[in-house]
Order: sequence, then C-alpha cells, then structure tokens
Amino acid sequence: MAAVTIPALQKMKAEGIKISMTTAYDYPTACLVEKSGIEIILVGDSLAMTVLGMDSTVPVTMDEMIHHIKPVVKGAPTPLIVGDMPFGSYQVSPEEAVANAIRLMKEGGCDTVKLEGGSDMAPIVKRIVKAGVPVMGHIGLTPQTVSMLGGFKVQGKGEAAAKVLLQDALDLQEAGAWGLIIEAVPENVARLITEKVTIPTIGIGGGRHCDGQVLVFHDMFGLFDKFLPKFVKQYAQLGEQIVAGLETFKDDVRESRFPEEKHVFGGVTEEELKRLY
Ligand code: KIV
Ligand code: NA
Repeated sequence: MAAVTIPALQKMKAEGIKISMTTAYDYPTACLVEKSGIEIILVGDSLAMTVLGMDSTVPVTMDEMIHHIKPVVKGAPTPLIVGDMPFGSYQVSPEEAVANAIRLMKEGGCDTVKLEGGSDMAPIVKRIVKAGVPVMGHIGLTPQTVSMLGGFKVQGKGEAAAKVLLQDALDLQEAGAWGLIIEAVPENVARLITEKVTIPTIGIGGGRHCDGQVLVFHDMFGLFDKFLPKFVKQYAQLGEQIVAGLETFKDDVRESRFPEEKHVFGGVTEEELKRLY
C-alpha cells in the first residue's frame, strides 16, 4: 500500500470516508498498526503516562519524544506518522517552536507534528508551517494545560464556549494546520466545527460526526488501568490476559512444568557426562 499523505486524508474528508487514528510508542505496536490499515499513527505525549508511568503529560521531553518516534517510523511505513510536540517545546518563542518541530521531523522521522491550543497558538502554527513542517491542531480538552482547564472535563459547553472553540478551529485552519484533533467536546459542537472547516477533524470524545476518530492504543486494549474515560471503547482486555499468562508461567516454573523436553538442548551423551562427574 502507498504511504498515506495529508492530501489523501483531506480527500477522504471531501468524499465522506471516515479516517482512523491510534497511538503507538514503539516498534512492535507500530508493526501491528501497519498491518491494520489504520491511516494515522500518533506518537502522542500520552506516552508519558501510558509507557513512562508519569502522572501527567507535562514532564515528557523532546529527547523522549524523539526516542519513541524513531521506532514507530521504522515499524509503520504506510500510515501518516504524527509526532506530538511536548509541553514547553512550542510555547516559549516562535523560533524555539520552529526549531523543535524541525527536530521532531528530522531526528524522529515523523511526517507532521501536533500541538495543543486554539487561536493563541495560531501564530506559532503559521511559523512552523512556513518553515515546511505540517502541523495538526488539537483543541477542546488539551491535557498539557489541564490544570488551567480545571481538570479532565468536557470543553465547549454552552454557546459562548462553543463559539470560542469554533473560532479556535477557524484560526488554526487559517494559520495552515492540515487537520484538527477535537477532544472531549459536545457532539453537536464537534459537528459544527467539522462542517465549518475544510480540513479533517479527528475526534476523541468528539462524537459521531467528526471526519475521523482517534483512541489511545493502551486504552483500547486494556493496557492502562489508571482511568478509562467515557469516550473509550475497549476492543480487547489484553492486560488481564497477560497477567493470567504470567501467573501460569510462574506456576509452571514453581511446579517444574516448564521447560518441557521440546524446549531443551542436547549435545553431550550420558557416557561423556558420566566421565565429567
Ligand atoms: O497524546 C495523545 O495520545 C493525544 C491523543 C489523545 C489525541 O494527544
Ligand atoms: Na497528546
């Protein structure tokens, strides 16, 4: 299959074909997503929590993001790879934002970057796009600034807040963003935005009318049990299956049921062995 491109995704929106996106943070996961035909992989800063055990996405660094983007690029040649810009890497100055976006693409190897924020971030988005790095926006619930939002809760409730969100989307589009993540927003507000912009909207807790959907891999497969938001659909409970497998392994070892004959090596005869005793 040919590699997924940004124009191809924009064409999918125009034709009403829904886009799917998930996260991956390492080579084996990327290989699995590659086989699935899913169009977009996000190497999300959610890796701070799902694979690095941090309490939020705030502490993750540029070096850590690049470390995780590289193996995903190796494992998934077909999907579009989005590298998440970590907190602090694009807020200080436009120059720093451009330099860090270039680093993610050049050192990590991703096709495009994503950053959180609405109208306030539009000038930054514009600068990065001008430098030749495609940018995806992320509006609604933006986990990097969750303490300012007052917790992990639905954004854009009520007419005034919905109006601000729509303006965020329009400003990001105007700044040159090629697509938008819409997180934890009332379904009808996400639909309004999806109809008002020409770039693809990918929802996560954004309801049924976005141009596509994204879920965090570890949430989909029961591999992260700190909390499970309402918008997650779990497609398998691999966490429980893995624990059961580990318990069986432990019992097998304790009871000498593993290894079996088929798992062991020969190479010295009993006669030869006798002489060594
Ligand atoms: O980091 C991430 O996984 C994200 C998704 C929730 C969109 O930003
Ligand atoms: Na993120």
